[in-house]
Amino acid sequence: MSTLKTSVLGIDFENPFLLASAPPTAKIESIDKAFTLGWGGAVFKTITPDDLEMIEASPRYATWKVGNKVCGFENFELLSHLTVQDWLDGSKYLRQKHPTKVQIASIMAPVVKEKWQNLVKTFNNSAIDAFELNFSCPHGMPEKGIGMAIGTSPEISAMITEWVKAVAKKPVFVKLSPNVTNIAEIAKSVENAGADGFAAINTVQSLMGIDLDTFEPKPNVNGKTTYGGYSGISVKPIGLRCVAQLRQNSQLPILGIGGISNWHDAAEYMCVGADVVQVCTEVMVNGYGIINAMKQGLLNYLENKGFSTPMDLKNRAINNITAHKSLNKEKQVYPHIEDSLCAKCGKCVTICDESEHSALALIDGHIIVDKNVCVGCSLCSHICAKSAIKME
Ligand SMILES: Cc1cc2nc3c(=O)[nH]c(=O)nc-3n(C[C@H](O)[C@H](O)[C@H](O)COP(=O)(O)O)c2cc1C
Repeated sequence: MSTLKTSVLGIDFENPFLLASAPPTAKIESIDKAFTLGWGGAVFKTITPDDLEMIEASPRYATWKVGNKVCGFENFELLSHLTVQDWLDGSKYLRQKHPTKVQIASIMAPVVKEKWQNLVKTFNNSAIDAFELNFSCPHGMPEKGIGMAIGTSPEISAMITEWVKAVAKKPVFVKLSPNVTNIAEIAKSVENAGADGFAAINTVQSLMGIDLDTFEPKPNVNGKTTYGGYSGISVKPIGLRCVAQLRQNSQLPILGIGGISNWHDAAEYMCVGADVVQVCTEVMVNGYGIINAMKQGLLNYLENKGFSTPMDLKNRAINNITAHKSLNKEKQVYPHIEDSLCAKCGKCVTICDESEHSALALIDGHIIVDKNVCVGCSLCSHICAKSAIKME
């Protein structure tokens, strides 16, 4: 019998699915509802000292859609609008009502030792299980020298981690930004400074688009915009890459985040090193109720694979990610066209022609492969709408 129960740094999770720090965790009532519906834990919307100004712009969202499907949000929403006392009271309430759920306080403060340490000391004796240091918000905060301005500097990241670790009585996760050249370098600096684990990724800095009539950008705030943070299913490959790079360079626990919309995504994150995962955009789009299918899907998968717990999945794929020079280049695959599935649309021929190789042709109603010029790149198989092409 498999279980979804898992444990990270001595913190017990009844399942590995947490709400990420974001609108779904901005209110105590929302977290309460999510816990009742089955989420294993929640990272609170980032808490700041009460005197940090937090004035929002409107609108602050834009979406990337394919048809009606939301593939990603850009947002430039700021941090929590609740006071520190609201969170302390809320955390206590949640602990009493949901004693087994994991609570993580996401915090951010100006780069002033006392500000960070006061926030940590205030929450040390609260009901939370861990801290998550938000070094990675890509909008609004960097202009104040915080958020991603911290997380893009190994030195400042390390300094604040040391300040926090000097007083923290709970485990400290550092939430890292994907908007850096080398995420492993920032991770190493905070690990050396005493961080207990990582959370990755925060949103990817973005500019959603330009209205070509007015030349006004999106989201349009009285004709102007600012760079925002991109999230949702489109960012999954970026998050997965970041988590894999963290795991290849560290053994610390990782809270995996970025574009997770179902159990399958979560399992992939675990295979490259995540201990548990966090979800934001998918919950905003489809509601807290998605947790049921996530839990059931992961449990079925673990059972089918003969794995006891999510920890059995951890790192399973990490050794299969290597340098290009180490890939086996002696073998080449070729497209096999399943003629009965093929719609003869010719898209595979076009992509092969326009992408250099011209190895495919539509002759007498059949796709023919010229193995003398095919390089086995696999593009044709990805463009086929009928899944009629397998690389063999
Ligand atoms: C509207 C919005 C607000 C967010 N606010 C915060 C925040 O306050 N603190 C934080 O650490 N991350 C924040 N995030 C980032 C998410 O926690 C998460 O890292 C990111 O959205 C990627 O996950 P996803 O693809 O599941 O949304 C926010 C994301 C969105 C979309």
